[in-house]
Amino acid sequence: MKNFINISDHSSIDLRVIIDEAKIRKLSRKGFNKSAPDDDKPFEGKSMAMIFEKPSTRTRMSFDIAAKQLGGSSIILNPDGIHYGKGDETLKDTAKILTEYVDIVMLRTSSHKNLEEFGKYLDIPIINGLSDKSHPCQIMSDILTYEESNGSITGKTVSWLGDGDNNMSNSLIEAAGKFKFNLRIGCPKKYAPGKKILGWAKENKVNLLITQKPDDAVKNSDCVMTDKWVSMNDKVNKKTKKKVLKPFQVNKKLMKKANSNAIFMHCLPVGRGEEVTDEVIDGKQSVVWRQALNRVHAQKSIIKWCLD
Ligand code: CP
Ligand code: NVA
Repeated sequence: MKNFINISDHSSIDLRVIIDEAKIRKLSRKGFNKSAPDDDKPFEGKSMAMIFEKPSTRTRMSFDIAAKQLGGSSIILNPDGIHYGKGDETLKDTAKILTEYVDIVMLRTSSHKNLEEFGKYLDIPIINGLSDKSHPCQIMSDILTYEESNGSITGKTVSWLGDGDNNMSNSLIEAAGKFKFNLRIGCPKKYAPGKKILGWAKENKVNLLITQKPDDAVKNSDCVMTDKWVSMNDKVNKKTKKKVLKPFQVNKKLMKKANSNAIFMHCLPVGRGEEVTDEVIDGKQSVVWRQALNRVHAQKSIIKWCLD
């Protein structure tokens, strides 16, 4: 069974296959309508169930369009509207039922453990559509977006500013190890990456710099990334966290310190005026809308890889 739960679960070779297939498929459908199927319809007659424990715009839309473009279909299940490990049905039984009905499951969950547990009971693949610990589909799609703009990411320098201890930064560290790029994280000590991911980074020889100086974080950078200062379900004092993160805002002055051809990325949704200024996110270096579109293309490739 091929699940897609964390970037660190997979070999560099498999991850590269996924990105390269996404590029080829995207190119091969130039001029097609947005939801028209690819010529080979590899997902024809198949379907995907999606469960969202947290809100989503992009993941919800892009997986649905991905299923359609692969020639299949998707169904969104509201966890409050189904027997999902509560009431008189166990999570195991819900998983058994989904195995009978669909070919693949995508889960967005507040607890990473739910993914692992649900995955254990399913006899079909499961894809992580964001958990508290990782957001692998977003980072895979960001690799695709980077490479479309600036060529191979291997050997390049990516900067991450702001919250260094969230799902996105964890997946980015894993990607740095797998795709062999340099990663510079600019964050306050309080929001630095956790011990577990740092241990993984060390074991996997990730070229990682963690600094409390935003200028150092963007030095020689080819790509500057940030994310919401307060993630969904982040149980912190928002006001205090935002105050501590303020010096790590991505603004024009900071972008000027990166390489001149550096791009700006944000997975969205965005806290305009907080982690990034309007000038940067709406500016020439920003690729955020293409990032959102590329979720479709990267995820098609992930679905296909899981089912191959
Ligand atoms: N980037 C991302 O996952 O967006 P959504 O929360 O809208 O799905
Ligand atoms: N870190 C953010 C990502 C949103 C796509 C969150 O979990 O809310």
